[in-house]
Amino acid sequence: MIPQETVQQILQAADLIEVIGDFVSLKKRGANYMACCPFHNEKTPSFSVSPSKQIYKCFGCGRGGDAVRFIMDLEGLSYPEALKWLAQKYGIEIQERELTDTELDAQNERESLFIVSEFAQKYFSEQLHSGEGESIGKSYFKERGFNESTIAKFNLGYSPSGWDTFTKHALKSGFKLEILEKAGLSIVREGREPIDRFRGRVIFPINNVAGKPIAFGARILKPDPKSPKYLNSPETDIYHKSHIVYGIYTAKNAIRQLDNCFLVEGYTDVVSLNQAGIENVVASSGTSLTKEQVQLIRRFSRNITVLYDGDAAGINASLRGTDLILEEDMDVRVVVFPEGEDPDSFIRKSGSEHFKQYIEEEGKDFIRFKTELNLKAVAGDPVKKAALIGDLVGTITKIPDSIKRAVFYQEVARLLQIDEQILINEGNKLLRTAKPQNHKTQAPIVPPIDMPEPNVEGLKQVSVEELAIVHKEDIFVRDLVLHGHEVIEKDEETQEDVTLADYVLHEIGETEFHVPVLGQIFELYKKNYDDGRLLDTSFFTRHENPRIQKKVVDWLSPPYSFSPGWDKYEIYVPSYVSKLDDLSYKNILRLKKEKFEMRYKELSSELAGIENEDDQDILMDQMTKVKKVIQRLADQLGSII
Ligand code: CTP
Ligand code: MN
Repeated sequence: MIPQETVQQILQAADLIEVIGDFVSLKKRGANYMACCPFHNEKTPSFSVSPSKQIYKCFGCGRGGDAVRFIMDLEGLSYPEALKWLAQKYGIEIQERELTDTELDAQNERESLFIVSEFAQKYFSEQLHSGEGESIGKSYFKERGFNESTIAKFNLGYSPSGWDTFTKHALKSGFKLEILEKAGLSIVREGREPIDRFRGRVIFPINNVAGKPIAFGARILKPDPKSPKYLNSPETDIYHKSHIVYGIYTAKNAIRQLDNCFLVEGYTDVVSLNQAGIENVVASSGTSLTKEQVQLIRRFSRNITVLYDGDAAGINASLRGTDLILEEDMDVRVVVFPEGEDPDSFIRKSGSEHFKQYIEEEGKDFIRFKTELNLKAVAGDPVKKAALIGDLVGTITKIPDSIKRAVFYQEVARLLQIDEQILINEGNKLLRTAKPQNHKTQAPIVPPIDMPEPNVEGLKQVSVEELAIVHKEDIFVRDLVLHGHEVIEKDEETQEDVTLADYVLHEIGETEFHVPVLGQIFELYKKNYDDGRLLDTSFFTRHENPRIQKKVVDWLSPPYSFSPGWDKYEIYVPSYVSKLDDLSYKNILRLKKEKFEMRYKELSSELAGIENEDDQDILMDQMTKVKKVIQRLADQLGSII
């Protein structure tokens, strides 16, 4: 359990723009920020963040909440995990105990995998700085030119050469063999002692987008034909190779700022470029690029520059990747390094200035890249030329944006000296026969976690009337939460401010709600009101209960927060009311009318018990006044029906 004070401290410190800005590129629009939603696949931004309200809301997929909710949804974390994540970001210390055996057992598997990965990462790091690790591992990194701060930045490590050094240490520290095996750190074999997966290798931890280690790449130190150069963690519940790119955590801010992502092949390329001051770089880790990896990068920028090794295999890999990138409506440029060089070796030879210049000069869009690559081969060979044109047109049709397609048709026409219209016709033919999926938005990356309100669902089948009640309830509680603190008028006798909450809550007793979440919100509000506190919206937008939170976030987001013009009713509207829409205004008038009607009843029963004529006069005078107010309210209600 995180102490409540610490929770408050975290909530205070967490700035939503900063938190979300770590993951998506936010563009300022008026008072708010907009972005492409990180929770579903979209090409036009419908994800809105309000710095003043500290809430986000996606009008595409409906997700919304505060900083904690954002981290929970994006990283798949629990509420306390998300709080810890934020605490770490803002340097807030959480007093945590050592985990006991039973607690370790109780952790669900994902959490255990995160814990054991972090444990392993720390262990490998420590090993690099002592004994065998220092003399063999660290000197290897030093030979490759990696300095201490680079080693620290990437948490590079070393796994000792013994058969089970790590496994023994982890077991002794309380981890179960089962979880060590599941994490891919230990290998369990029938009838034999378990052994370490990584032995006598330097370690490259692979982090998720939040910076947590989820897997490891382990490089051999000396070439050995009997053993692969790299051993990698197997797929686990927290590591899906095809969904992650190496270095995304260290690169994401730079990718967003520079609006470009360099995509390389190897771990060492990422590390080496970083040391040279080029941070917007991630690695596909030797496998061919996947759609999910491209979508991950697209959270931060629409531009990818593929930097591949100067060998045939590298070029082929980059060609396979480009269609995928184009399909995701991203712009891709390709840079090929000289024969035998990879980004790591190239930057070490030429330095970062020359490296950047090389990328600038040699970077080609995929059309020019493919064309120039094949130009020699197709020269004087019409059959090959036709095949190349077909190939290029096929690639162009992968681009969802028609304007971009048109630009590329022009370029191919120019480069291969062929009539542009022929290319367009060819492409359109392909588009008509192609599976429609290319140009449709794909299914959300993350399924919505919020189930529909069961009661509302049920009511839909019941009656329209009940739905209308639900709607009224919604407006009623909404106005209370959003405008409860606003002063409606001064009390005639005491001259004290009367707030909307006073109006609404003064005479209200136990109230039943059809929609449970509205009841919960109302209860919270009323309980605090009775204790002399007026809750503001941030109490709810920060609430741990996702239903409560989402309801209030929805209320605070358009279309609710835009009110229709009041002028059209041509009635006098006090300033607070201009913030409410017509239905809620009526609600308030009605409540107010009821309140005065009640007062009238009270006065008339009082009157019945009074003998003194003077007193009767005073009372009747009051009753006339109240009646007038009731009449005025009735008129107002009538005029806006
Ligand atoms: N790779 C792998 N298994 C191998 C070889 C390569 O997983 N047996 C992956 C690694 O992620 C590696 C990437 O493919 O980083 C690129 O391979 P390579 O260029 O050979 O490795 P580098 O990272 O460049 O390593 P080095 O510079 O030390 O050769
Ligand atoms: Mn390499």
